[in-house]
Amino acid sequence: MLNTDKFYTPLGIKASIFYDYLNELVNKEHSWETHFGFDAIQVDSRWIQVDHALRAVDKLQPIRALGVLRVPPNSFYNFHKDSYRLSTINMLIKQEEGHCYFIEPKGEHYSDCTELVYKPRTYYLFNNQAIHGVVNKSKPRYMLSLYFANETKYSDLQAKLEHLKA
Ligand SMILES: [Fe+2]
Repeated sequence: MLNTDKFYTPLGIKASIFYDYLNELVNKEHSWETHFGFDAIQVDSRWIQVDHALRAVDKLQPIRALGVLRVPPNSFYNFHKDSYRLSTINMLIKQEEGHCYFIEPKGEHYSDCTELVYKPRTYYLFNNQAIHGVVNKSKPRYMLSLYFANETKYSDLQAKLEHLKA
């Protein structure tokens, strides 16, 4: 059994109206830009001060930008470590049947594998330097994600945001 704590950490403060705003946002027409294989749109940074969880995070670890990432239906986003991010915070906005997995190779044929099952309105610290991938079926999948002002190792982020953990 894998210890999931090294891959992701849920936060205690839930998103309220920001979550509803994002769900409406993804239903509208946008000119999506390609961002490391994802379709992406920027989200207004003023939400960082409006949303309670993001404001609390921003005080301890300043946030540079918010965005929505879209994964197309019937796709597998290959297992990888991010080339551009050490850690982030994610919140699932909407999906039909999507799964995010973390793996740790074990021997020749198998990897240990664990799934991050996103709960509604819940933010997760996310270790972008652990190997992860996404399988997505039937409908587009929308995820809130962010950049910190300074790239920070996941374990350091966990320590900094210790008292915000669920
Ligand atoms: Fe990634």
